[in-house]
Amino acid sequence: MSSSALEVRPLTGALGAEIFGVDLSKNLSSELIQEIRNNFLQYSVIFFRDQDLTPEQHLNFSKMFGPLVINPVYGNVDGYPEIMPVIKNEKDKYNIGDTWHSDMSYMSEPPLGSILYAREVPQVGGDTLWTNMYMAYEFLPTPLRNALDELNAVHSDSFLTSRIEERNAGRSTKLVADPNRAELRATHPVIRTHDETKKRALYVNYPFTYSFEGMSREESLPLLNQLYAHATKPEFSCRFRWQKGSIAFWDNRCTMHYACNDYQGHRRVMNRTTIAGPKPE
Ligand code: SIN
Repeated sequence: MSSSALEVRPLTGALGAEIFGVDLSKNLSSELIQEIRNNFLQYSVIFFRDQDLTPEQHLNFSKMFGPLVINPVYGNVDGYPEIMPVIKNEKDKYNIGDTWHSDMSYMSEPPLGSILYAREVPQVGGDTLWTNMYMAYEFLPTPLRNALDELNAVHSDSFLTSRIEERNAGRSTKLVADPNRAELRATHPVIRTHDETKKRALYVNYPFTYSFEGMSREESLPLLNQLYAHATKPEFSCRFRWQKGSIAFWDNRCTMHYACNDYQGHRRVMNRTTIAGPKPE
């Protein structure tokens, strides 16, 4: 397939593009993978429709963008340790991913991105939203931006793992982390420079950023909450309506995402792969 076969339709003025004209179950040429990667870097989250992938094909496509990581707190699909199921059943009250977040920022090397594949979706509801953290940085008031440039933040998995039973009640996607294992904790710059685009992005998120370095959580929360409210403005975001066979591939270094839990009584089944990333700098 020649690279000109791809049709790219941007979703909003902030981020996101749907890409048509490619069957991801096939072995793709290095030129086509490069073209997909270029769109991924340009739009920060890219979407594909009407894909029919086996778990092996999902893994093959994902591995074109780097080594995969196994989620340290959630389970995996039987026989596929690198695929994390994201499931909400009819009787579940809650989904996962229902707060604005950047995946696994509590790791010292958080993932570069994730590839989420829709296997079963409700007729309506269950959309996912993304927000552009380059824009969140760019549109901060200059004095605040300059102050944040100097700060680090502590990230932790304790939002999930300090209350496993409470989190698992009413959710089919269970935390399986051992409650006796040590907390996963990492310190990252509040403003990170994307290792490929070289652009600067705000890098804090609601569930996993615990505090600014050198400050208590109580001291940190007023400014953190202000940053979350700023970063999730509609002007910086996009919203994707899933269909069976849709795929989203997001850049975890410069976006946050939010899974909307507005489909009570209906089932949604997704498979997620996650690609290893660099230490934020
Ligand atoms: C996630 O946070 O990875 C889940 C996103 C979704 O289910 O839409």
